[in-house]
Amino acid sequence: MPNTLKVLFVAAEAEPFVKVGGLGDVAGSLPRALRALTSDFTGGIEVDIRLVLPLHPTVRTESATLRPTVTFYLTRTGGKELVQVFESNLEGMPVYFVAGDPINQTGAVYSSNVALDGEKYAFFSLAVLEMLQHIGWQPDILHANDWHTALAVYALLIRRWKNEFLGTFSVLTVHNLPFMGPDLAPRLAAYGLPPASSGLPKWARAMPLPLGLWSADCIVGVSPTYAREMLTPEYGAGLQDFLQTRTDVIHGILNGIDTKSFDPATDETLAFNYKPETVSMRALNKKALQVRLDLLKDPNVPLLAMVGRMDPQKGVDLTLEALRLLMDLPWQAVILGTGDPALESSARLLQADFPERVHVEARFDLTLARQIYGGADILLMPSRYEPCGLAQMIAMRYGCLPLVRATGGLKDTVIPDQTGFVFDGNTAGALAAAIRKALALYPDRERWQAMQKMAMSQDFSWERSARRYFNLYQTLLNQR
Ligand code: GLC
Repeated sequence: MPNTLKVLFVAAEAEPFVKVGGLGDVAGSLPRALRALTSDFTGGIEVDIRLVLPLHPTVRTESATLRPTVTFYLTRTGGKELVQVFESNLEGMPVYFVAGDPINQTGAVYSSNVALDGEKYAFFSLAVLEMLQHIGWQPDILHANDWHTALAVYALLIRRWKNEFLGTFSVLTVHNLPFMGPDLAPRLAAYGLPPASSGLPKWARAMPLPLGLWSADCIVGVSPTYAREMLTPEYGAGLQDFLQTRTDVIHGILNGIDTKSFDPATDETLAFNYKPETVSMRALNKKALQVRLDLLKDPNVPLLAMVGRMDPQKGVDLTLEALRLLMDLPWQAVILGTGDPALESSARLLQADFPERVHVEARFDLTLARQIYGGADILLMPSRYEPCGLAQMIAMRYGCLPLVRATGGLKDTVIPDQTGFVFDGNTAGALAAAIRKALALYPDRERWQAMQKMAMSQDFSWERSARRYFNLYQTLLNQR
């Protein structure tokens, strides 16, 4: 057994360099957690995991020096594309940045121009594989994430058929199945990649994520429940029958959260820091929040919250409708997040109708988000689907009890009536009934605090996830 495990972690975004959504949190934290696994756990194996990202125009590199590493061309019919690779470092972990024209074509990490995004990520994925030849480092595991990097997994398989990269196994983590990337048939042909000839439904045979799912040695859903849900018509986005044929390689591993950064005992954005034993002190944070949000300063009125992207996936519309059904009860609500303009304006409408109890902040504000976790009573997450979800885990760590729909990672992280509230169904009526039930429990302070303490003591550390991924890598390599 060699005592180094070499992993290349490939993603479109990663904290602290560039972050748009949950993928950025994961790609920023998981590789570092894998590197930090103790040799007691790994049996003396050192995890040499490296991260590779596109050098988007928006990448924040102030804190890091970028050293030019290699330069080469990707050939395709009709021309060749220049690839420049830079190397940097994050707390001792090598981080590569791939630069090239297709990556600069759009300013954003994800643009609204599907075709350009397709070209960009096809270029990035293929450049990543090619880069390995040039830097002279062949990983044992190529770990890709979502559609953006799935073609690296596909191209790897094609190369293995040509007896190259024989020692490299692939893992593809699915954070969001419905986003599969555009049909890239002409692009793939130009790069000399054949479409998949069987297995996949016809419409999916030249799409990045399906091709990755078709070729990966191992597929990971970001929660055990989501890994099973992907196999059903409700959540499978048309790929359920195909995925059914791959159940032997599909696993579910929950994400973690950064428990150092998200710690109510030290979080500097909070008016008052607290621990499970002093959770009653949260009342001071709630008061500070009520002042900041211009809500009635009454400690006894339950404060409901919703934090995150305003997206139909998140069930924002269900929340807005449910709140209107609950006007007979005392509550206040704060909604923080941006996204879908139609959802933002319905949220504003609710605030205009009930200014004394609803406060909407249609923007991205990490500080306010933390203050909400640290002061609100209930976090609402009635997601239509939720591969993992991070907000409910952060909320629990802060003693803000999540009220979630029984789906994906929400179902796997919230223990019904012990660390939060869980409901079935995806209607405003079902959500309203669940909120009603939680509000009825609210006056029982003793019971509520017991739930808060239990929520705060759950282990959502990245170390737990990293151990599972490490074991998975080992299982794959043992097939060698
Ligand atoms: C996506 C999913 C979310 C998950 C995140 C990180 O954003 O929608 O549920 O937590 O990826 O895996």
